Amino acid sequence: MSFLKQIDTDNVPKHVAIIMDGNGRWAKKRGLLRIFGHERGAKAVRETIEAAGESGISHLTLYAFSTENWNRPKNEVDKLMNLLVSSLKKEFKTLHKNEIKLCAIGNLEELPPKAYKELSEVIEKTKNNKKLVLTLALSYGSRNEIVKAVKEIAEKVKNNIISVENIDDSIINEHLYTRNLPDVDLLIRTSGEQRISNFLLWQIAYAELYFTDVLWPDFKKEDLYRAILNYQNRERRFGKTSEQLK
Ligand code: FPP
Repeated sequence: MSFLKQIDTDNVPKHVAIIMDGNGRWAKKRGLLRIFGHERGAKAVRETIEAAGESGISHLTLYAFSTENWNRPKNEVDKLMNLLVSSLKKEFKTLHKNEIKLCAIGNLEELPPKAYKELSEVIEKTKNNKKLVLTLALSYGSRNEIVKAVKEIAEKVKNNIISVENIDDSIINEHLYTRNLPDVDLLIRTSGEQRISNFLLWQIAYAELYFTDVLWPDFKKEDLYRAILNYQNRERRFGKTSEQLK
């Protein structure tokens, strides 16, 4: 039986976040330039979005470009940005037709103007779609996001808009880029690396972590379904005991 059919539709993770890793190694193994790995990676993005829709996930967040990725060779950064623009142009109609709402988190002003413009246009045009919220993390770093939130909250305390006593989880949440997203239920990282790399540190507090050796360009629908099935076999206790959950 296909993995999709085995998924319990009452227990699908609401929010899945993915660290798409291994594009460079995929290309190297084939004697190709790294950019070919990224291009194949874009195909895997398409496949994953389709699979997310088919399995009933309502929020999918993809780590597409970190604040640290700006330190890569200029040629690779330029090509990644061009790939972002061409993918948005190419996929806009399909996204819209499938009721997908595109969002972005990160320091978006740092993106090249062409990428920023294309991204903003697709975000605006798809803002009323309801089936799946697709969030691209671009020029994103979680520590940077938290520092920004702390500064905004401190400013509000200084101006008597918030009192120190009222600062709690929800106030912090409201000052993160992800303020409109639910907490992450399942975090997937491909390529065999087992680390978080400054991604959604606050938001994954209770997420289930799933690591696979599959390199991102090889990631297929069945790989996402397999991760969901694995998630469904875990007991999420949120600090309670097994008995309390029964
Ligand atoms: C990690 O692989 C991947 C990235 C830094 C970029 C992710 C980009 C894509 C999947 C392409 C297109 C995305 C969109 C949204 C159109 P790596 O280069 O770090 O691989 P390595 O660790 O094997 O070197």
